[in-house]
Amino acid sequence: MKTYLIPSLLVCYLALFTQTVVAEDKRVMVKLPQMMQEHMLSNMRAHLEAINSILASINADELDKAATIAEQELGMSALEKHSAKHMAQFYPEGMQQAGSAMHHAASQFARIVEEGDPANSYKALQNITNTCVGCHKAYRVH
Ligand code: HEC
Repeated sequence: MKTYLIPSLLVCYLALFTQTVVAEDKRVMVKLPQMMQEHMLSNMRAHLEAINSILASINADELDKAATIAEQELGMSALEKHSAKHMAQFYPEGMQQAGSAMHHAASQFARIVEEGDPANSYKALQNITNTCVGCHKAYRVH
């Protein structure tokens, strides 16, 4: 029994080690001043909350509310609120583009959801979340 223990541990160790190698982080590191980083991450948490509230509003058939949250919290109207222009100067160009893609997708969603077609609304909502995922795949701040 004991003779198998060491080789089995070794196999476990190798399996873990290989996984670590596979999960190597290829995202571009974006160094922001500390306060800006905190502000940006707090905006991010608000973004997730907005997506959650949008889904809740759609489920409650409150489409106007879904549109307002999308426009005010994520859309073109949110640019001022989140000091996006000021922050964007610290971002690499690709990240700036990903940010504007999110704001545009959210404003577009706000228009589409008010038309009342659920399938189109969910497609438009996924256009927003695609921009979240795209940026998260490419960049990190810590
Ligand atoms: C322009 C790029 C970009 C877009 C667009 C973007 N994010 Fe982020 N987000 C980031 C980066 C960079 C981080 C930090 C990741 C890291 O350093 O590991 C982050 C972190 C987060 C976090 C973690 C916050 C924390 O406190 O650590 C959440 C939640 C989040 N984003 C939600 C969202 C949601 C939801 C969307 C879309 C509605 C979104 N983000 C769109 C770039 C983006």
